[in-house]
Amino acid sequence: MKLFDVYPLFTITPVKAAGCYVWDSEGKKYLDLYGGHAVISIGHSHSHYVAKISEQLTKIGFYSNSVQNPLQQELAEKLGEASGYNNYQLFLCNSGAEANENAIKLASFVTGKKKFISFQKGFHGRTSAAVALTDNPKIVAPVNKTENAVILPFNDITAVKTELEKGGVAAIIVEGIQGIGGIHIPAKQFLEELGQLSKQYGFLFILDEIQSGYGRSGKFFAHQYFDVHPDIITTAKGMGNGFPIGGVLIHPEIHPWHGMLGTTFGGNHLACAAAIAVLDVMKDEKLVQNAEKVGNYLMQKLAELKSGFEIRGKGLMIGLEFQHPIKEIRNKLLFEHGIFTGVSGQNIIRLLPPLSLSIEQANEFVNAFKKVLTDISVSMVEK
Ligand SMILES: Cc1ncc(COP(=O)(O)O)c(C=O)c1O
Repeated sequence: MKLFDVYPLFTITPVKAAGCYVWDSEGKKYLDLYGGHAVISIGHSHSHYVAKISEQLTKIGFYSNSVQNPLQQELAEKLGEASGYNNYQLFLCNSGAEANENAIKLASFVTGKKKFISFQKGFHGRTSAAVALTDNPKIVAPVNKTENAVILPFNDITAVKTELEKGGVAAIIVEGIQGIGGIHIPAKQFLEELGQLSKQYGFLFILDEIQSGYGRSGKFFAHQYFDVHPDIITTAKGMGNGFPIGGVLIHPEIHPWHGMLGTTFGGNHLACAAAIAVLDVMKDEKLVQNAEKVGNYLMQKLAELKSGFEIRGKGLMIGLEFQHPIKEIRNKLLFEHGIFTGVSGQNIIRLLPPLSLSIEQANEFVNAFKKVLTDISVSMVEK
């Protein structure tokens, strides 16, 4: 059987990884400034993580959500402590899209309404309701198109108020920091006003922290830079350091009933063991603080290059926007310097390394990046 060919692939086959490095099948070493798409939080193959999952597998890997699983409670307690949302409730699922799909469904159940507002350049996943709220018509199939999804200009509070006046809004969903759209941080006043409007108009405020959460921004959740108190927070990516797991953090005043939400695999023993190990390591190694420190250092060093690109970001979620396509820069970094980076559109490089990135590794990237920019400008002059 052939694979369904939906991904453009690099000609690289990673076979081994440790910390912030990956090795391919030829033995070549790469510095990982991409974190497997913002997923690797505590570093590849961390010994505590490997031990916790391996040990769990020798006991019990899976049983259904019809029995007691104390690992779910342990995870909920540790996540409450790490995030500061001790009094919220946790629903466990398997991916980012699934977390948002459940958040949207929950908001509709709670309010009895069906209209949702999201924002331009936003990404919320590829499942039915989530993709309808994602600003990319190419990935919205006819079956996903709905008048209940209204996508408004980002940071435009007047547009939001106009839409709210029409009535029927169940929730507004916004990313803590827009990731796939190119690292755009919501304006403080915009985000805080959304929070206030939610009380005034009675809609639920959903923060999609799937990419920007779990310490990546230098706070546990990116919205914690502001004075906002979401009703629902969604998380995935960094939560399992590569083990598929997602979560929905739900305000204490939202009451569940049996059967309201559900999943076969969500919150299984192995996934919980992985996610608990992640939180243990984040706490022991102070990775949220490290993301803030190394992220600030990296952004400062990049600013010193003064090479005509815009730098946006917080912590280790950084976007570098050029006035021209960055394909050549990215390829040179990867094939000549052995450094993985991410992209957004044609012109933006995205840096999403493990939260354990060191100052030395940040320097390794900056030096290679400087060399690539110099080589490219020399070759442009020669042309
Ligand atoms: C902000 C945001 N929301 C949702 C998703 C969807 O997550 P998943 O790919 O795990 O379904 C992503 C994935 O990149 C994301 O960045």
